[in-house]
Amino acid sequence: MTVRTRKPYIAGNWKMNLDRSKSLDLVKTVKGRIGDGSGREVAFFVPSIYLADVSAVAQGSPLGVGGQNMWHEDHGAYTGELAPRMLREVGADRVLVGHSERRHVFKEPEEWMSRKLRAALDSDLQPIFCIGEKLEERKSKRTDRVLKKQLESGFAHVKPEDAHRISIAYEPVWAIGTGETATLEQVDLAHATIRKWLTSKVGEEAETVRILYGGSVNPDNAKDIMALESVDGLLVGGASLQAETFLPIIEYDA
Ligand code: PGA
Repeated sequence: MTVRTRKPYIAGNWKMNLDRSKSLDLVKTVKGRIGDGSGREVAFFVPSIYLADVSAVAQGSPLGVGGQNMWHEDHGAYTGELAPRMLREVGADRVLVGHSERRHVFKEPEEWMSRKLRAALDSDLQPIFCIGEKLEERKSKRTDRVLKKQLESGFAHVKPEDAHRISIAYEPVWAIGTGETATLEQVDLAHATIRKWLTSKVGEEAETVRILYGGSVNPDNAKDIMALESVDGLLVGGASLQAETFLPIIEYDA
């Protein structure tokens, strides 16, 4: 039996999926089911255009609602971008920073991540900072090095006292949306690397940081992944789009 000191965190990342009406239905269903939260934190990361409506439906429940990305400045000539304060204004209380698709599909440079992470903290948006290695990096045994480098640059402006507000998602790029999950051993080792790095960076505050796993999480593997003591939560893409698959993940220990 896993002894938990950190509250489990189950987050759904919708990416560019669902439509307004399906989004609201899903939130209503999950809200109805989780009641007062039953000892875990549940959140959806929502396309920005639906944030206001989703937040309105989630209100009065412990469901968290977040943006999938943002720019770090408060205002200015940044066509197509969103400021942290804008996410807050439409009800977001959290945000993803550095998701693999931002890094690799949209080629966002690594040095942006630290500014985004800082801006999220300054705007009182609870960040999930996403990191993970590509397949060729794993094959050439560079996983640890890549994770540490991503942590190093992301945490450049983070102070130890900020740490408890940050969650980290370990998402191997090769496991995202592929149906191929990292093995339990791979997850455990990567999470240990992250925890160790955190301790060296922020000292005992490292114990307050939740480390989530993401990459092809589904109702069949959620329980085993969550049984690892090094795993504090899950960041779920595809399986978060329907109540039938997301609810069993939220209730992984039922
Ligand atoms: P997936 O996505 O669960 O569909 O693999 C995870 C993510 O990108 O956060």
